[in-house]
Amino acid sequence: MQEFDVLVIGGGASGLRAAIAAKRAGASVALITKVHPLRTNSAIAQGGLNAPLGKDDSSESFAEDTLLAGDNLCERDVLRIFTREAAKEVFWLERMGVPFNRDREGRLDRRRFGSNSHNRTCYADDRTGHIVLQVLHEQFQREQIASFEEWYVTSLAVDGGNCVGAIALGLRGGQLESFSARSVVIATGGFTRLYLPSTASLGTTGDGQSLAYNAGARLTDMEMIQFHPTVFPKKQGLLITEAALSDGAIIVDQKGGSITDPKGMPRHKICLSIHQAMQNGGGSVSLDLRPIGKEKLRANFPQTQELVRTVAGLDATKDLVPIRPVAHRPMGGIETNAAGETAIAGLFAVGECACNGLNGAGRLAGNTLSEAMVFGRTVGEAAAQHATAAAKRNFPTAMLADEEKCLVTITSGDSTNKDTLGKIHSELGSLMNEKVGLIRNHTGLQEALGRIQSLKDRYSRLRVKNPSRIYNYELTSYLELSSMLTLAEVVTLAAEARTESRGAHQRADFPERDDTNWKSHTVVNLAGGSGQLQKKPVAAG
Ligand code: FUM
Repeated sequence: MQEFDVLVIGGGASGLRAAIAAKRAGASVALITKVHPLRTNSAIAQGGLNAPLGKDDSSESFAEDTLLAGDNLCERDVLRIFTREAAKEVFWLERMGVPFNRDREGRLDRRRFGSNSHNRTCYADDRTGHIVLQVLHEQFQREQIASFEEWYVTSLAVDGGNCVGAIALGLRGGQLESFSARSVVIATGGFTRLYLPSTASLGTTGDGQSLAYNAGARLTDMEMIQFHPTVFPKKQGLLITEAALSDGAIIVDQKGGSITDPKGMPRHKICLSIHQAMQNGGGSVSLDLRPIGKEKLRANFPQTQELVRTVAGLDATKDLVPIRPVAHRPMGGIETNAAGETAIAGLFAVGECACNGLNGAGRLAGNTLSEAMVFGRTVGEAAAQHATAAAKRNFPTAMLADEEKCLVTITSGDSTNKDTLGKIHSELGSLMNEKVGLIRNHTGLQEALGRIQSLKDRYSRLRVKNPSRIYNYELTSYLELSSMLTLAEVVTLAAEARTESRGAHQRADFPERDDTNWKSHTVVNLAGGSGQLQKKPVAAG
């Protein structure tokens, strides 16, 4: 058995930041991640990260913009911490080596990204997420933190209401291992691969949310799924950074006419305009990148240009690029307080897998990485502190044998079943897009609940045909699909319950925001084998 003070699960920006902070706070730390950190989904945060820098900006204005994008569903105590701490994290990243773009005076340049009311988004061309990950990974390595890459956590160990570690499967060697820890931090990212197409990387399958939910933690605001407006529709969700819009790109219909002025609009409104234009004209909508100008495209959007050329086969300086809104990031996740604590003692969550109330019903463009940095640090520190104070608890050693039996059952392949994981995932992805997508209604949501149940039934009859434990991708997909089916049901349940339209959650049958009844979070917990839904009012003040 491996033993640590703090175990961080997930190797994206928030996980790396949490691990570094916990280590610097004096804890012994290990990080488990199913993919190499540089391949995590944080890389798609291309446009930059927000911090209120400069004389004309303030924490208050930043908080106000975040609240507006969240359509009044944000928690103000969390907002205050976030907007106060964001600048420190940007400066820290700069000191650690992120080559942020500079303005003419040599200061950190800031773009006006999405619905920010100020130029507030620090950036490194259109590769910010990737570069931030590289710099974080370098710092992580310098701290000599124990790193278990290509390990998949199969369950959390909970004993007497306390999280005491986890069991994980080494994907390279096929062995199961127990990890005992006084604090466990889940930082596994989002779950939007349960939509197809999706902008999220292949591993963004909600493993952490599902682990926590099955262990007794609560999931909150799961119906809030942000769609991204500027995504190339073919080839599985190639994201073109929304920063292109702030730098002059326009969204046009088939005739080349601009369909909306996206400046200052929150993401869900841009997505709805595109959706409407596609419905009205019945045709395609495109992104015209030419107004940015060749020079600036080359200088500030090198990755976009390259991807448009290689993936779409188009020239961004000459061609219109077809786009459509595609499922991007959830705002909901594992319910935590501002310190990242969940309903289970010793279990923390941070970043996109968590919901501390920062993002409400819509995440402000540029807040993803800032959130990962600010709360990665504070939650890592809180986890280290908890580990120091917590009494040593026993790890339920029998769990390892139970998990082993489970894996043996899963891999006892049944070659007569013609159904496949791929078919179930693909049907789930289309169903979620169609019935629990940008616009929902009661009939569609009820249909989705029924069809998710039948997908779950089909899944329960499946077994993994490949008996090998060495890089068995079929086994990993099997485990991931279980998480996605669990979360699809929770998302749909919460979407059906919220009988109003707010931010990313748009109901055709309840088109108005209803503050009287719904200035509340949805909260789902597992009881008696099924999801139970409650409302939790947004805190006053
Ligand atoms: O448009 C973008 O650059 C996407 C940013 C994000 O939400 O991660």
